[in-house]
Amino acid sequence: MKILIVYGTTEGQTRKISHFMEAVLKDGGHEVTVADASETPPSPASYDAVIIGASIHIHKYQSAVVHYIKQNIEALNKKPSAFFSVCLAIVSDLEEEHREARKITTDFLEHAGWKPVMTTQIAGALKYTEYDFFKRLIMKMIAKREGRTTDTSKDYEYTDWNAVREFVKEFAVNAKIHPITAGLQNR
Ligand SMILES: Cc1cc2nc3c(=O)[nH]c(=O)nc-3n(C[C@H](O)[C@H](O)[C@H](O)COP(=O)(O)O)c2cc1C
Repeated sequence: MKILIVYGTTEGQTRKISHFMEAVLKDGGHEVTVADASETPPSPASYDAVIIGASIHIHKYQSAVVHYIKQNIEALNKKPSAFFSVCLAIVSDLEEEHREARKITTDFLEHAGWKPVMTTQIAGALKYTEYDFFKRLIMKMIAKREGRTTDTSKDYEYTDWNAVREFVKEFAVNAKIHPITAGLQNR
């Protein structure tokens, strides 16, 4: 299958996840294109399946991803597609943070009118050493509230690569079996 992966990223983790997905899919014999939503990504038209990813910053996804989905909504709803949301709330000790992260995703998809056959929440990274002073301060405060580390001398990656691999493999299998109405479960 020809698969397109379009991502939005602010600090790079969603790009890293997208390229990991690319490697998994290529291993499975698929032809894959990865594109940054902010750099004129190709239209979904000439692909068999599309995966879109974005990360949450102050409860919102990258506007380039929002724009891409809006521009291509008809094509997206006609073929198997998946959405992955990258955030940190999902690794919080607080269950309400998990609920909030899932609600950001469902509200976003509903507002866009997009019906991906699979969605998932993927834990991102805390890149303390790359943040400017204010970002580091904000992230330290949030980390403290959510029970994560506040040692800002290091970066922390929470991404569960096995879960990412399983998600993308399941998507590829089901997209092939059910090319139009892949009857998959949202997670
Ligand atoms: C300024 C800032 C705000 C963030 N806001 C949220 C948020 O509202 N909810 C959340 O779950 N994660 C939030 N995060 C965590 C990011 O989603 C996480 O670091 C992710 O890995 C970023 O992905 P990216 O590198 O692809 O942009 C925030 C991160 C930063 C730096």
